[in-house]
Amino acid sequence: MAGSYFLTTAIDYVNSAPHLGHAYEKILADFFARHERNLERDVLFLTGVDEHGQKVQQSAQREGIEPAIFAERMGVRFQRLYASLGVDPSCFVRTTDANHKKVVREWLQRLHDRGEIIFKEHEGFYSVRQEQFLTEKEKVDGRWPEIFGEVIETRESNYYFPLEPYRERLLEFIDKNPEWIVPAFRRKELLGALAEPLADLCISRPKSRLSWGIPLPFNEDYVTYVWFDALVNYYSFASVKGELRWPPDLQIIGKDILIPHHGIYWPIMLLALGLPLPKHLLVHGFWTNSGAKISKSDSKSLVDPAPYVEKFGPDALRYFVLREMVLGQDADFSDERFETRYTGDLGKKLGNLVQRTLSMIARYRDGKIPNYDGFHLLPVDSDLRSDAVVEEYRRAVEQFAPHLALQAVWEFVARANQYVEETAPFRLAKDPAQAKRLDVVLGHLAESVRRLSVLVQAALPFTAEKIRAQLNLAPGPVRIEEARFGNSLREHVIGKPEIIFPPIEEKASA
Ligand code: MSP
Repeated sequence: MAGSYFLTTAIDYVNSAPHLGHAYEKILADFFARHERNLERDVLFLTGVDEHGQKVQQSAQREGIEPAIFAERMGVRFQRLYASLGVDPSCFVRTTDANHKKVVREWLQRLHDRGEIIFKEHEGFYSVRQEQFLTEKEKVDGRWPEIFGEVIETRESNYYFPLEPYRERLLEFIDKNPEWIVPAFRRKELLGALAEPLADLCISRPKSRLSWGIPLPFNEDYVTYVWFDALVNYYSFASVKGELRWPPDLQIIGKDILIPHHGIYWPIMLLALGLPLPKHLLVHGFWTNSGAKISKSDSKSLVDPAPYVEKFGPDALRYFVLREMVLGQDADFSDERFETRYTGDLGKKLGNLVQRTLSMIARYRDGKIPNYDGFHLLPVDSDLRSDAVVEEYRRAVEQFAPHLALQAVWEFVARANQYVEETAPFRLAKDPAQAKRLDVVLGHLAESVRRLSVLVQAALPFTAEKIRAQLNLAPGPVRIEEARFGNSLREHVIGKPEIIFPPIEEKASA
């Protein structure tokens, strides 16, 4: 084993249905997890759902059921969707898990014992939607911004975790670890937020107002603030066979939960407990739907991934989101863009290359891949023998740029398709004197298809398997190193060629 790798995603609120934004983040994490496995690392990959809090309690109330039943029902929807997308975590996190609740209470007790928690009365404004206290500073033009929803005035005694004593240490950490936050412009935003003194974080909610949470160990009349509960999942589920893995190598989150949640609360919680901070926080942008914001409160704006998975297969959606979003920036989803990628990149480019290669081997060589090495080669062959694509792919993934990794792979696909045009095997097949040349061409194409089955494993795991099955190769996953050119396929008998990405019209009439 080449070491281990630990990555996490945000855990989704179960108060409303999963949408493309949730799915994207999990696909992204699954892509990195698969990549690391293909580097032979022992991967711990956590994703799951955030079940407690006021919003879940309210949604359950509206349906007239217990929050636990509501959370369970919704959690299953998230889990099923992710499974249908081929997202394959080591463990599906649920914050109602008994051990998780125990760890949350242990952390609180430890902070309390160390004198890090204070009890005080607070009078002020509270956002029900965001489950947080507000200050006048948060007003824009004298009004509460819409994201806070209903804002009420309350007077309440609560437990607080003072963050200010850790601000300097956090700033120092960020200074010493310039690559902690990816992309770099997010780091600047965080430094901006850390320029001013930090308010004490309210970590409790009175049970009289919110019962759906984890009771505080030192006062059972209160439950834990949902973020203090949710963030702890990264630690409470971080064990493999009873052995703790810490810290995470990569934590993937959306841009809305960097400040203050993952950029301030989370590292300060870890600093206060004397635990190492995660190595990287990868902050992705938001998906919009045909230019409009995706909003949980407007069901028309939500993109439900399920119908796309059903109609086009999971890999079509995986490919689309990984290829279209420049990691860190926002991206737009529309049927038109989706279908363009599906028909072009998947159908006409990759699908067609596999299909025509295998059909020619079936037709001209009876399904047996000819010997393609040790012959006279032409300059045109050398591009297909180059391993540059493997290096480019790996470099792009290391730089957290899946879209560039896929771009490199699709340039290779384009090169291979062009090779068919340039070498014209259909013409070579008509001339017996060209039999050896045809062997070389078909062999190089088959080898390119095999290499592609390795290069697309992390992004398109189902397609990778389909290609391997059609080539009659043992199922993957295989090491990324196997994407290098070789001649292992000589004399190999292929399976039956089949269309991988059927044209959209045919699907509609099917
Ligand atoms: N429960 C908290 C996270 C706790 S992590 C300890 C939460 N949940 S969420 O359901 O609102 O969001 C889950 C993830 O989905 C977040 O990383 C969020 O940024 C991401 N997305 C939500 N909408 C999104 C888009 N429209 N586009 C991309 N990602 C988006 O926050």
